[in-house]
Order: sequence, then C-alpha cells, then structure tokens
Amino acid sequence: MNFFPLMMMKLEQVTVDYVGDISGKPALQEISFELPKGSWTAVIGDNGSGKSTLSKVMSGFLPVSEGRRVLAAGHRVYAVLQNPETQLLGETVDEELQLSLRSLTDMDARDKEKRMRELLNEVGLSVPLDRPVKHLSGGQKQLLNIACCLGAGADPILFDEATSMLDPGSRKSVMEAAVRLHRLGTTIVWVTHRMEELCFAERILLLEHGHVRYDGETEAFFYGQDQAGNYDPGEPSPCEQLGYEPPYVVQVARSLHKRGYLLQARPLFSAQLSEEVKRCQSQ
Ligand SMILES: Nc1ncnc2c1ncn2[C@@H]1O[C@H](COP(=O)(O)OP(=O)(O)OP(=O)(O)O)[C@@H](O)[C@H]1O
Ligand SMILES: [Mg+2]
Repeated sequence: MNFFPLMMMKLEQVTVDYVGDISGKPALQEISFELPKGSWTAVIGDNGSGKSTLSKVMSGFLPVSEGRRVLAAGHRVYAVLQNPETQLLGETVDEELQLSLRSLTDMDARDKEKRMRELLNEVGLSVPLDRPVKHLSGGQKQLLNIACCLGAGADPILFDEATSMLDPGSRKSVMEAAVRLHRLGTTIVWVTHRMEELCFAERILLLEHGHVRYDGETEAFFYGQDQAGNYDPGEPSPCEQLGYEPPYVVQVARSLHKRGYLLQARPLFSAQLSEEVKRCQSQ
C-alpha cells in the first residue's frame, strides 16, 4: 500500500447504508478525503446529514457498505461523544484512568500514578484521583474522557458534539484541552453545530444528505477567496452561500471590510480582530 507517511487516515468512496433505514438513501454516499497527521478538521452539517455516521466510520465502529477506510499503521482512534456519561466505566477518576493505561503492563504502580496526574494536568482537570466519577460535573467528565484518550495513546481523537451538553465555562475548558492536544501533535476531528467552534479548525468539511458539500480551509469558508487566493469582501462567502451564519467576529470583520476599512487579515478570533482594528487606526 502506498500510503503517504504524513497521512493519518484516508477514506475512499465510502458509502454507508444502514440496514433497516427506511429513508432509502445511504447515510454516507461516496465520501473521499484524506486526513493529514496533526491536522484539525471540523465537520458540520444539518441534523441527519451523516456527521455521526462519518465519525463512527472514522473510529472504526461502523463497517462501510462500499469503499474503504485506511488508518496509518500503529495508530488508535478514540472518540469523545456528546453525552459525557456514556463512556465512563470506572467508579473513581483513578479507576477510569487505570483502564486507559491498562496496556502499559510493564509500568509500576508509582509511575502509573505519576502518569495519571500528568494526564489530568494535560487536560486541565484538577481533581484528586480518588474523586468518585459521579461527583464530577459534565465538563469535568468530558475532560476525564479526553485524559483517558490521551492515556490510551489515541491519535486521532474524534469529538462528536462533545461540548453540546455543557455550560459555557465547561465548553471553554474542553475546547482548551483539545487545543492543547492539537499543539502536542494530536490529529483532531471536531463535529459540531456551533459555528464559533469551527474557528479552531484548519479545515471545514460540510456534509449535506450524506455528501461532502464543502471541503476547504476555514478562512476561505468564512471569507471566500477566488482561484488566485484573493479575497473580495463584496462576494458572498461559501458559509453564507450554503446558508450558515458566520460567527460574530467574522460578521464584524466582513461588515468593516464592506465599509472600506483596511482590514487585510481575515480574523477568526476576537483578539485577532481587535489587533487588526488597532493596526488600521494607527495607519
Ligand atoms: N443506527 C441507525 N440505523 C438506521 N439509520 C440510521 C442509524 N443511525 C443513523 N441513521 C440515519 O443515517 C442518517 C445520518 O445520521 P447521523 O446520525 O449520521 O446524522 P448527524 O449528522 O450526526 O445528525 P445530528 O446532527 O442529529 O447528530 C440519518 O438519516 C439517520 O436517520
Ligand atoms: Mg450526530
């Protein structure tokens, strides 16, 4: 197999037809794309467009009806799902992390405990190891799920609406944990309905009725660009054309562009936007 060494996963003409699905249409139809190692891809699409099906195929939980999925050798995929409860099996934080480290049979108890504390630290979860899982908040449970993925050496990690049941503070913590993992080199696939969460991704995959409707860079999705890579604020962006409302920062930047403010950058975060406005004011 000639599999490019920097590729984490490849889907080739993947079709998924659920047995007993009365819609008569496959949940995924001839999906092909490659996932580079260390990349962050966001997957969006309306309810029923096939995001979770795609996520299950990528995780290896769901066999494909046609086509194939190729995962880079030596890698394990883990998923963090919507409901933080569904994935936790242990009574305590310690038990849960022990489960994720169970393949490290030659590690002694002291080193394991050290590793467990490191894992909690890496995801920003500061709770004692003997804390019962049932006493953790939803956000803390998601952070524990992520720590377990890390402990098990997962790469890529797929997040399927992992923040949708969380309050804003917990959402931020989970997002920050994912950003940290990405900086450490983990490949991230992030399924969401929240447009502002797309800004952390380098690439957007938009599904519609089981097809890939858009596959491109995040900036290009929100701001648009012509074939030469130039940006014309007068042109509707792919995001707008496809009927999605861009995040607030993008809306503000686009309306400043349209009013002739010399914003060259295409900001995705409020800090970038305010830097750009400051730069323009000082000119
Ligand atoms: N286990 C199943 N059996 C039969 N059909 C299914 C099954 N799971 C999903 N489907 C169908 O496959 C299609 C895609 O569903 P999927 O759950 O992947 O969508 P989704 O984009 O994740 O939606 P949501 O935003 O609601 O989570 C839908 O038409 C759904 O009804
Ligand atoms: Mg889903």
